[in-house]
Amino acid sequence: MAELLGDLISPISGGRVPRHVAIIMDGNGRWATQRGLPRVAGHRAGTENIRRVIERFADHGVQYLTLYAFSTENWSRPQREVRALIRLLRYFLRRELDNLHRNNIRLQMLGHIETLPEWLQRQVGDAILLTRENSRMALNICFSYGGRDDVVLAVRRLLAEGVAADDVTEEALAARLLTAGMPDPDLLIRTAGEQRISNFLLWQSAYAELYFTDAFWPDFGREDIDMALAEYGRRKRKFGGLLPEDIEALRGR
Ligand code: IPE
Ligand code: IPE
Ligand code: MG
Repeated sequence: MAELLGDLISPISGGRVPRHVAIIMDGNGRWATQRGLPRVAGHRAGTENIRRVIERFADHGVQYLTLYAFSTENWSRPQREVRALIRLLRYFLRRELDNLHRNNIRLQMLGHIETLPEWLQRQVGDAILLTRENSRMALNICFSYGGRDDVVLAVRRLLAEGVAADDVTEEALAARLLTAGMPDPDLLIRTAGEQRISNFLLWQSAYAELYFTDAFWPDFGREDIDMALAEYGRRKRKFGGLLPEDIEALRGR
């Protein structure tokens, strides 16, 4: 059954693990405010947290980890905060790139990279190039990413390629999304108590298992990850069908 769903067995827990985990990293601002700190301090703490989260998911054998770092809507925040978030992307790349490469992790960026300052675009490009052959886990950082925008851009690509209406299939569209070639997320986690998608991976999450936790992103650690994966292991994924055991139970009735 696990094989059927594309799940793997965790080298750590021995349980079923998702191939692709996507995370809405929320609650940096509240984490800081609770401590009487400026919101930017929360973003810094959240960025620091990314390292241990990557390591833990990789140790479990997750193959794709997609992190929502900055949405197309986040541009509407005060300029100071937006600038700080862009600086933190630079900080993350500077500090983590060697580590990612050493750990055989492939970095990809999903979103409007062209909206970043040129020096940062270069840095991002270099990081992607350096890690492109790595095979242990793919790390997707979504920056200036929007799920609706992703679909609109895919439709534009279909039109630009002159794809005929009859050839516009789910597969054809999916192949033009920013996640082309990747499996859909199996598990979508959102931290900080909010229970909404906020324009993340709209198309790709059609059958993702949703998991919400009250932990603020900077506090989301190993135990929270293990709890989320354990919960995932208990979910019954049916994709609109029936489980083999349900079909079995129908026999003889
Ligand atoms: C998530 O933390 C980071 C981004 C959205 C960039 P928030 O900044 O949204 O934190 P809260 O929701 O205000 O606590
Ligand atoms: C979603 O969080 C975006 C990221 C985590 C990058 P937001 O904090 O921006 O979402 P809303 O505004 O609460 O829906
Ligand atoms: Mg938020």
